[in-house]
Amino acid sequence: MLIHGRPTRTLWPTADGAVEIIDQTRLPHAVEIVRLTGLADAVRAIADMLVRGAPLIGATAAWGLALALREDASDAGLARAVAGLAASRPTAVNLAWALERVRARVAPLAAGDRADAAAAEAAAIADEDVAMCRAIGEHGADLIAAAAERAGGRRVNLLTHCNAGWLATVDWGTALAPVYVAQERGIDLHVWVDETRPRNQGAALTAFELGQQGVAHTVIADNTGGHLMQHGMVDLCIVGADRVTRTGDAANKIGTYLKALAAADNGVDFHVAMPSSTIDWRLRDGVKEIPIEQRAAEEVTRMRGALPSGEIVEVQVAAPGSPAANYGFDVTPSRLVTSLITERGVCAASEAAILGLFPERKVA
Ligand code: MRU
Repeated sequence: MLIHGRPTRTLWPTADGAVEIIDQTRLPHAVEIVRLTGLADAVRAIADMLVRGAPLIGATAAWGLALALREDASDAGLARAVAGLAASRPTAVNLAWALERVRARVAPLAAGDRADAAAAEAAAIADEDVAMCRAIGEHGADLIAAAAERAGGRRVNLLTHCNAGWLATVDWGTALAPVYVAQERGIDLHVWVDETRPRNQGAALTAFELGQQGVAHTVIADNTGGHLMQHGMVDLCIVGADRVTRTGDAANKIGTYLKALAAADNGVDFHVAMPSSTIDWRLRDGVKEIPIEQRAAEEVTRMRGALPSGEIVEVQVAAPGSPAANYGFDVTPSRLVTSLITERGVCAASEAAILGLFPERKVA
């Protein structure tokens, strides 16, 4: 999608064997490109959230493994790189999915052939992510078109949480891909953007990308959604996911569950958009089984922003010395999810409906 009018992806390989990413900790104040040349760079980029969002974490891990194998392609090097990347963030299952896909591709090869094969697999993962997200956009735009129909010609209001846009994927996004396709189709649309404390992915990233793309939007404080829904100001919600169980429970950025509760109470459709690489086929109970990342307390007690000079600084917002808890994600049970939007189409959030789209995942 666009940055300053130029089509851009969130990561790309360079001619000299490195990988470049957009440092998302600097957005929206500065667009800075960071070069990854080895395992340590890739682990740091994921753990410190220079890249974030489940599909992009997966694609970066795949490329990170390719970079790591240029440094050490032995069996021990492969195992060490997989373990290091897998430990960088716990909730998004795309990370483990991408690592296993590249590992399985290169493990049978001679050490000397592994790095190039891993790079080819990482490139394929990135390209497939773009195609899956575009397909999610087409399917989700049909839901927005239906909402527009129900709205009888007035502007459709959509609410989203966190950033599940193109910055969270390789391109297009998951929750926001339907918005971009709806825009292409000429549907009059406005997006309510939850700011998404503590790291403000909504205010910083979703608002940035919608603005760059010319989509009408308004940033709201995280607790505003319920009020808007009570007053008929939200036609539908679409959020992304970091891990979805085979039964349709969805882990996403902390606060998503509360939006789903408010949507259910107000009869507002609540959709979860994700590629199949976000489904953890082993799990059935999201609340019990999905690991929830806890991050540094300072992300809650402090906030980052730009001074009028453009300098990016962090300031203390909590009472000095007060302890803080920082749970990164929560789980929305399937009963609160109206539908899942996948690359293969839209389905109910139930095991039977998911398997209807992905019959190859039926267990004998
Ligand atoms: O902590 P983050 O910024 O990686 O969390 C991102 C989200 O929760 C997204 O909604 C999710 O990864 C879906 S991305 C298409």
